[in-house]
Amino acid sequence: MSNIRIAGIGGSLRKESFNSKLLYQAKGLMPSGMDLDVVPIGSLPLYNQDDDENPSPEVKKFKDSLRKASGILIVSPEYNYSLPGFLKNAVDIGSRPSSDNVLRGKPVALMSASIGTFGGMRAQYHWRQVFLFLDMRQISKPEVFVNFAQDKFDNAGKLKDPNTLSLIKELLAHLSNAANEYAAIQ
Ligand SMILES: Cc1cc2nc3c(=O)[nH]c(=O)nc-3n(C[C@H](O)[C@H](O)[C@H](O)COP(=O)(O)O)c2cc1C
Repeated sequence: MSNIRIAGIGGSLRKESFNSKLLYQAKGLMPSGMDLDVVPIGSLPLYNQDDDENPSPEVKKFKDSLRKASGILIVSPEYNYSLPGFLKNAVDIGSRPSSDNVLRGKPVALMSASIGTFGGMRAQYHWRQVFLFLDMRQISKPEVFVNFAQDKFDNAGKLKDPNTLSLIKELLAHLSNAANEYAAIQ
């Protein structure tokens, strides 16, 4: 039997993004039977409803990657006490047109890293409101916030903190269980 597929989106567009490091590290922490495919979003256009009926090749490819996934992992920076526009743009693209919303009903888990005290907490609560509208199945526990991210990664870009690593494994296990259930009813 082939592995269940989780689509990972997020990070930021900058090369040394802490959130990208976290996203790629999650690939190696997935439970057995689960693959995490990181889906790039850097070449997506800005969402324009006029293009719904004639999506660009980049949009088609992006949506197909999400469509094939039984769960979604979002690793988000916090920008100005909220979620970053480029990442929200990708989620908006995945959700439209409503007749081809490739996110609706899917399990979704969330992590964030920031250089501040709260580790992206405010961005996460804004994301949860978005997931509510999209009728996604949110994994709400454990919450994974990597605060003071500038001190938490080693030279190879790996998160060092064992407590946070154990929370990430638990979150991914919960996402995998929900993805298995989702896949079983498709
Ligand atoms: C436009 C912008 C707004 C930011 N706003 C916040 C914020 O509200 N809270 C916070 O903790 N960090 C904020 N930061 C700092 C980010 O935590 C930091 O740049 C972090 O490294 C971004 O994630 P990345 O490493 O994945 O790019 C902001 C950074 C930028 C560029």
